Amino acid sequence: MNANLIERTEDDFVAVFGRSAQGVAFVPGRVNLIGEHVDYNDGLVLPMPVREGTAVAWAPADHGEIAVRAANLDESDRFAAFEPSRLTETDWRSYARGMVAHLDLPPGTGLDLLVRGDLPRGSGLSSSASFCVALGRAVSAALGLDLDARTLAKAAQSTEHDWAGVACGIMDQMAVAAGEAGKALLLDCRTLDYEQFELPSDWAVAIVDSGVTRGLVDGEYNLRRQQCEAAARKIGVASLRDADRAMLESAELNDLEFKRALHVVKEIDRVEKATQAIMAADLSAMASILREGHASLRDLFEVSIPAVDQLFERIENVLQGRGAARMTGAGFGGSVVVIAERAALPNLERDLDRPVRPVF
Ligand code: GLA
Repeated sequence: MNANLIERTEDDFVAVFGRSAQGVAFVPGRVNLIGEHVDYNDGLVLPMPVREGTAVAWAPADHGEIAVRAANLDESDRFAAFEPSRLTETDWRSYARGMVAHLDLPPGTGLDLLVRGDLPRGSGLSSSASFCVALGRAVSAALGLDLDARTLAKAAQSTEHDWAGVACGIMDQMAVAAGEAGKALLLDCRTLDYEQFELPSDWAVAIVDSGVTRGLVDGEYNLRRQQCEAAARKIGVASLRDADRAMLESAELNDLEFKRALHVVKEIDRVEKATQAIMAADLSAMASILREGHASLRDLFEVSIPAVDQLFERIENVLQGRGAARMTGAGFGGSVVVIAERAALPNLERDLDRPVRPVF
């Protein structure tokens, strides 16, 4: 929980709406430790909440509409709770309207909401999932709906699909809605069952921003999903979760489908192995899994970029086996996640000469 952010959000609420908020919902962003591009293949993932996130201050209002102020942008929106109208542009307003639309509120619901976030946008830490779930949690608290993590996560995922045109999986939304600070969330994206794992106390998880903001990637993302689905169809399984390497080899996949599917099958296996490495407190096993995961995203799934690969190599050189890194999130820029001996972080920051932000 980010105390400064919450306080600022409460102050902004008073400044904008001229009265005090009745409550504030905070939802973090997430970093994914391992299990990339497998959620929409019904796979297993291992994300973790970060410190930064989105706060939404709320109070019921008698004007009969949903009034939202985005404090970071100095922009507002106001719309009907029941079947809000569509916007031509996909910006934060589409996310707000989409989320409210998916919560099925009664006509005439009136709420004042003030949103403030401290997640860098485009850095691969799920700012949009954090925004949607925080908004949903604020609405739920204001109206006494008591919506659980799965309901909020599904509404947020549908918002990405129907209001933003991104055919994402459910990892980000579940990670931010159900994840507990300082713990890795092992999530089965088919059943939505999950378990939380504390990391060994001498391990650190940290984020290094590549400085390249993700942009124009939705097309590439949706294309990867289509390639995986095409491969699953040719293999004759409902999703790549049900495939193994022998099945890939005997199916008539083209080169691209084979590479994409091989990444998915092996990445799901890596998530299971990473969970075992955490339980055994085996950092060198964890480091090998991260390295393999990065190479697979670079060579088989082809979602990394040279700036991120260089950062990965530099971290590898500095850590000298005391941990490892890999790109995290959808790819095409964004951040690198590092898992290393806690004692190795100060040197890493000095030698890289850029911020290394601990996750917990
Ligand atoms: C984005 C999507 C997720 C997931 C990751 C890649 O963050 O929103 O659903 O597919 O990319 O693992």
